[in-house]
Amino acid sequence: DVHILTIPPGESHKNLSEVSRVLDEILALRLERGDALIALGGGIIGDMGGFIASTYLRGIPFFQVPTTLLAQVDASVGGKTGVNHSSGKNLIGAFYQPVFVAIDTDSLTTLPKREFAAGMAEVIKYGIIYDAPFFAWLEAHIDALKALDTHVLSDTIKRCCEIKAEVVAKDEKEGGLRAILNLGHTFAHAYESCLGFSSKLNHGEAVIIGIRNALQFSYQIGLIKKKSYTYVKNHLNKIPLKKNFKNLFKIKEVNKIISFMKSDKKNISKKINVILIKDFGKIKLNYQFNPNTIKNFLISELKK
Ligand code: GLY
Repeated sequence: DVHILTIPPGESHKNLSEVSRVLDEILALRLERGDALIALGGGIIGDMGGFIASTYLRGIPFFQVPTTLLAQVDASVGGKTGVNHSSGKNLIGAFYQPVFVAIDTDSLTTLPKREFAAGMAEVIKYGIIYDAPFFAWLEAHIDALKALDTHVLSDTIKRCCEIKAEVVAKDEKEGGLRAILNLGHTFAHAYESCLGFSSKLNHGEAVIIGIRNALQFSYQIGLIKKKSYTYVKNHLNKIPLKKNFKNLFKIKEVNKIISFMKSDKKNISKKINVILIKDFGKIKLNYQFNPNTIKNFLISELKK
């Protein structure tokens, strides 16, 4: 006995009022604790579906059926659920694990190219944070990936899920290690929030820009060596992306970006926490910076 509830596309609907509307519909259906919720769609649907399932009757089983590359390699695995708030990205939510995640790579053939590029940000991220040979393998297979070769896609998604599961198994509630999965995300979340979660910039696109910023910042403070920096930078530049930091933002918006960065979940003592790169598999966690340092960095990037 299946009921279909739909949520309109886009981050602008990932909020508490949409959750409340869906909960009203579920309450009207009188679902019981023995019923379940299946989240079929991209990361927004998975995050919202999981959050709804975690609160309805204090929790009903839920299943993830992710249909975008980003959701398949990242959002659907690991139990982070939640919604955005006008003060920032994903600020309201719960850790709530799905019963299982079912991935069908055929769903990727139905998506616009823009979605694929967005997902590649998270794929490349795993190579940087955890697995240098995987990074090199991705480099060698980038054309097959872009052509949606089923075998290469399956191998890629499988490796990403393995890495994510390994990290989450060690640190489910992000007490430490799990934060490596947030490489580039302090920047990315602030950009999405600053643009009011508009369709101008989706999450994966923001993450590509955020990883580029984190890489550049790591290089500027002397954390990563030139060889690794150039290697990662060149690979990131192969992801086709129309947006970049400079064509999205103006210098006068930097203060607004910084104020969103100040609301990041990882911050401690009013400093901004960024995840930085020392080398492949060597990620610097809990690196706290004075907001002015990050502000000057962002201004220098916009002046380039
Ligand atoms: N997307 C980052 C995490 O699941 O921790």
